[in-house]
Amino acid sequence: MKIIDTLKLAFTSLVLFASPCSYGVDVHADGAAENVSAVEALSPALRKLLSSEMQALQSGMMSIIPAYVSGDWGEVAHIAGQMKNSYILKQNLTDEQMHELHTTLPVDFVSQDQKFHYYSGMLEHAAKNRKAELVGFYYSRLAEACVSCHTQYAGHKFPALDSGEVAAEHKH
Ligand code: HEC
Repeated sequence: MKIIDTLKLAFTSLVLFASPCSYGVDVHADGAAENVSAVEALSPALRKLLSSEMQALQSGMMSIIPAYVSGDWGEVAHIAGQMKNSYILKQNLTDEQMHELHTTLPVDFVSQDQKFHYYSGMLEHAAKNRKAELVGFYYSRLAEACVSCHTQYAGHKFPALDSGEVAAEHKH
């Protein structure tokens, strides 16, 4: 029944994210290069928010380790909960920025983000239940979710994750 709760939460965050606008984007299936262009096309203000969000996620991931290896489940749950609740949309976006985000980035970005929030919710849940093994499992799923989204959308920041296609199109 707890899993259902988490699913509900994850679903709610998807709905929250998805509701205000429709996605007017022509999505090409595996266009990592186009995805990168979409990110690069975001306005400077929005990109700055995205960056600080990412920095916060990164420090969350790093501070989970000492808590995890010392069995401080309360702290793991606390950090995972913050990561689950942190989203760029929770910051003070104007209506235009919200609209921009939804119309500039492909729908798949939303599902990658949703997967990420699902795993942080599961991590929080596993920590609350003091399940060391599951905490390790969901931590690694979470890290995979970072890599997966970066491979698709952040090749410009992390060239080592670039698919050949992106590398070819983004050599400056
Ligand atoms: C839904 C997609 C998505 C997920 C999930 C995601 N990222 Fe990112 N991340 C991006 C994008 C896109 C950029 C590049 C932003 C830009 O160039 O403006 C980025 C950039 C970054 C950066 C560089 C920020 C900067 O500008 O200095 C860091 C650090 C980072 N991510 C960490 C993480 C970590 C850690 C996780 C997982 C816990 C994660 N990200 C999950 C999409 C994602």
